Amino acid sequence: MSEHNQVKMVGMNYDKDRPAAENPIKVQDLSLRDGHQSLFATRGRTEDMIPIAERMDEIGFWAVEVWGGATFDTMHRFLGEDPWERLRTLKRYFKKTPFSMLLRGQNLVGYRNYADDVAKLFVKKTVDNGLEIFRTFDALNDYRNFETVVPVIKECGAHFQGCICYTLTEARLGGEVYNLDYFLKKAKELEDMGADSICIKDMAGLMAPYDAYELVKTLKANVKPLIHLHSHFTSGMSPMAHFKAIEAGVDIIDTCMTPYAYRTSHAAIEPLVMSLLGTNRDTGFDIKALAEINDILEKEVLPKYKHLLDDTKVSMIDINVLLHQTPGGMLSNLVNQLREMDALDKIDEVYKELPRVRKELGQIPLVTPTSQIVGIQTVNNVLFDTKEERYKMITAQVKDLCYGLYGKTSVPIDPEVQKKALKGYDRGETPITCRPAEVLEPELEKAREQIGDLAVDDEDLVLYALFPVTGKKYLMQKYGREEMPDSLKPITLKDVEKQAEMIKKAKAGQLIERSKPENIPEKSEYARVFNVFVEGEYFEVGVDEVGGAPVITYAAPAPAAPAPAAPVAAPVAPARQVAAPKSPAKSAPKTAAPSPATGTPVKAPMPGMIIKYAKNVGDAVNEGETIVVIEAMKMENALPSPAGGVISAINYKSGDSVAKDDVLAVIE
Ligand code: CO
Repeated sequence: MSEHNQVKMVGMNYDKDRPAAENPIKVQDLSLRDGHQSLFATRGRTEDMIPIAERMDEIGFWAVEVWGGATFDTMHRFLGEDPWERLRTLKRYFKKTPFSMLLRGQNLVGYRNYADDVAKLFVKKTVDNGLEIFRTFDALNDYRNFETVVPVIKECGAHFQGCICYTLTEARLGGEVYNLDYFLKKAKELEDMGADSICIKDMAGLMAPYDAYELVKTLKANVKPLIHLHSHFTSGMSPMAHFKAIEAGVDIIDTCMTPYAYRTSHAAIEPLVMSLLGTNRDTGFDIKALAEINDILEKEVLPKYKHLLDDTKVSMIDINVLLHQTPGGMLSNLVNQLREMDALDKIDEVYKELPRVRKELGQIPLVTPTSQIVGIQTVNNVLFDTKEERYKMITAQVKDLCYGLYGKTSVPIDPEVQKKALKGYDRGETPITCRPAEVLEPELEKAREQIGDLAVDDEDLVLYALFPVTGKKYLMQKYGREEMPDSLKPITLKDVEKQAEMIKKAKAGQLIERSKPENIPEKSEYARVFNVFVEGEYFEVGVDEVGGAPVITYAAPAPAAPAPAAPVAAPVAPARQVAAPKSPAKSAPKTAAPSPATGTPVKAPMPGMIIKYAKNVGDAVNEGETIVVIEAMKMENALPSPAGGVISAINYKSGDSVAKDDVLAVIE
């Protein structure tokens, strides 16, 4: 029996004034970032964090993760919220507990490497707004991508936590690439960079308990910084991995409050508190205080998010992760992408092609953004490749990866794939070997010029520099130059009750039949549409606010024929993370432009968002020249002209959502 397991007191209760442990495990709570990112598509709103904030601050967490990862993107894109404002607001409630964030190295909170000037200003503004711990990772574990941000983190007096992305090519730790030596070498690199702590970031939940023990023991014996374990629950192994890591002497672990725990999120804190009670690693946390927080979340907050939970499966764990060694989120993204392209039957081919594409692209770890890069390229290969030709549609991000723009891959990229990807690549056909950001021109001044006085302060400027298309859109809304669409506004518990009531009625057949359209009041421009999931059934509910009182326009089982009203501003397809039984692209407000009588149409091969047109109406183009760049699943795809001629029509503009087969342009 390990010394850590020994209970020291008989008759121990869980009063918080129990004797302190010799070496209490430190705990970081992730509910307000990774928790809702994992379970509720990052849709957590600041107003729903406030009711628990002060109580959370009393628990004694080592830190609370409240920012970074996908929050920055999602907030301005889908919630109509200023990400910076969240930090400042929460800081007023958390007076003791440090704030931590997930920083994607030189990718910051986006999906590509940004120039050094943007990275420096981002870190500085983040500290200014209240952030204290920077959990920093690089998708390739190439720490040259930390070289710009780390000195700024240090100068600002913040805590630099360096991550090692935990990934495998085999079922357990080991093999040629990702073995114990690899992780130890990475830990030493981080120590040499001045890491205050080192996080083993097991984003896919791949870590087996005995591997956790071996890895933590080795790191504790060989490096000085605190060792922190971040292991997602996805596969079901993480609570066991936590326990073995605690026995091996890990310093800090990550958990969530129960309503934000399990599935693709993290293990809950409460069972851990009880399991360690009276041991020399006792958390010292007050279980009753935790229960009170859970109660508030259950009653006041989570009813607003429940519909976002992917409840298409009964099982809490994802066996596919154990089978494929890939993050669960990545797999569900692939399924969604295939569904939106009506190609769900190709999923087995995707599973088969995935390890092959990963190996050809340098056996890279699979974490944002590399999981998307490998995943979407795999889908493209399965959908568009022919027997004669592989990699027919290579995304811009794969080209960047092949050029070296993300960093050094774990093993060299397949030379043939690399050569094909870099043919005609605008930065050059010879890949770089230097630190990636060295080839990036400064971006800040150009961004400042472009956004002009729409950016009132540096926070606005950084938002725009990181997300030019959606960031500008948000700033227009923030400063009242464009109306905030209703779809971005929060819902209340009252809305949730109304929806539940409607669904009950709909199920009892008490709603106005849609076959009698004269009974349906006309939908106003303020009508909002909710997707509601009940016991495996799916309803689309339209709520129209008339004179302050919500009036239900209709509630319809979703699979039925065209709903009387199309959802307003359906979320952009690329960032959808929640499985929905209905393709959002199909219900998007724009219908496909009719095929032209003459000319060759340039059609969208997938649903997505227009990034930019490379040509204007009247421009002459050659076959194969890029006409338009479309973003799908956050990857950019340059669409080539199917014929030579002159552009006679351009049907969309930057920022528009398009469905598969929409005609984007016409060549005469
Ligand atoms: Co995570």
